[in-house]
Amino acid sequence: MEVTVKGWIRTRRDTGSFSFLEVNDGSCLANLQIIADETLVNYNEEITQLSAGCSVVVSGILQKSPAKGQDVELLAQTVAVQGWADPATYPLQKKRHSLEFLRGISHLRPRTNALGAVTRVRARLTVAVNSFFQKQDFIQVHTPIITTSDCEGAGEMFQVSAPGEKDDKPFFGSPAGLTVSGQLQAEVYAQAMGQVYTFGPTFRAENSNTSRHLAEFWMIEPEMSFCDLSCNIQVATDLLKFVLQDVLDNCIEDLALFDKFIEKGLIQKLRDIVDKDFVHITYTAAVEELTAVADRFEYHVEWGVDLQSEHERYLTEDVYKCPVIVTNYPATIKPFYMRLSDDGETVAAMDILVPGIGEIVGGSQREERLDVLTKRMKEAGIDTEEYGWYLDLRRYGTVPHAGFGLGFERLVQFATGMSNIREVIAFPRTPGSAPC
Ligand code: 4AD
Ligand code: MG
Repeated sequence: MEVTVKGWIRTRRDTGSFSFLEVNDGSCLANLQIIADETLVNYNEEITQLSAGCSVVVSGILQKSPAKGQDVELLAQTVAVQGWADPATYPLQKKRHSLEFLRGISHLRPRTNALGAVTRVRARLTVAVNSFFQKQDFIQVHTPIITTSDCEGAGEMFQVSAPGEKDDKPFFGSPAGLTVSGQLQAEVYAQAMGQVYTFGPTFRAENSNTSRHLAEFWMIEPEMSFCDLSCNIQVATDLLKFVLQDVLDNCIEDLALFDKFIEKGLIQKLRDIVDKDFVHITYTAAVEELTAVADRFEYHVEWGVDLQSEHERYLTEDVYKCPVIVTNYPATIKPFYMRLSDDGETVAAMDILVPGIGEIVGGSQREERLDVLTKRMKEAGIDTEEYGWYLDLRRYGTVPHAGFGLGFERLVQFATGMSNIREVIAFPRTPGSAPC
């Protein structure tokens, strides 16, 4: 069969009157072996000068490979060099580079096996997320990136201003920022369309330099009318299982690479998530587990404080060894929009914790009662005039509804075993760093 391939050289090896070129075009982990013999017109001048990073277009005959290591190889009829890469300065050499080193060259790192594989798995997860919601008749809404409402009320909004903008005459009429979550706008659409989701970039100006935080990350946020906390938990569980099954079905070659070099047992871990039930505990029960072993932790834990990453990881990694759904957190540590429980102290919140990461999903049933919501907003110091549109949803045809946010990079981390979140987004934005 005659084929043409276009890609980048990984290695060249010469034996007698042949050169073996390993070419990769990004479509999959495996390289294609090209056999170029000395009768090719540019053999001496070009082919034997090729090195890692050069780009080529090769035409020839695809044939069964007699050698071990690959099923097929390409017997070249022409090798056209598109671009050279000086081996004296090209940073990607044949040896394995550390992930930290690769982070410093984010414009070249997708050319490596590991980062290429992450890129494919991430792209596949995007497809899987969309197909999950399409199958369930959710409607996708593109919520705004620039917004005047701070959903989480945590004061982590980056500000947006126009050049030369005056404080008393803001470009958008009132101070605006980059969205921390599309939830509030998704709620608007859920209360017209039933089940919606938004999947886009979100931004947090939190000064946390950890392996799980980015200043710019992507979030999947479904919002469902006529849905309570248990329905919300069901959708989140089904979504996680569906998308991980999808990568097991479609990205096994890449997952095998991670299983070998990044996280031993990764594939089995993913299969277990798909096959086994998640554990469900209340925040109160979680705090009981944690206070029993309080000296293990750096951060103090008692009823009423938010769980730290070390607490979340202890529950999911040491106690239950599987995903843990924690519900009914104290109202005082959660945002104004979460539905107040009958006990008056907790809200219908749920977080899903997974091994290696901690919190991967955060969500809740929403407060649909106008009077309770107004009171909660006032207590949180939120201007109820400014959020009049949000309160209108409770004035006109309010319904019980719920939703959650799944951090997309944390999902990619979980699926690939990458311990640092900076490896799973193309150009990570963190305090002090925004390459390219
Ligand atoms: O728990 P969070 O802050 O929830 C919300 O934003 C809700 N409005 C979501 C909703 O109910 N629609 O964030 C949700 C998830 C977290 O569980 C985590 O996976 C991820 O978003 N996340 C981050 N991921 C990377 N970097 C950060 N700085 C993140 N902050 C949150
Ligand atoms: Mg959260």
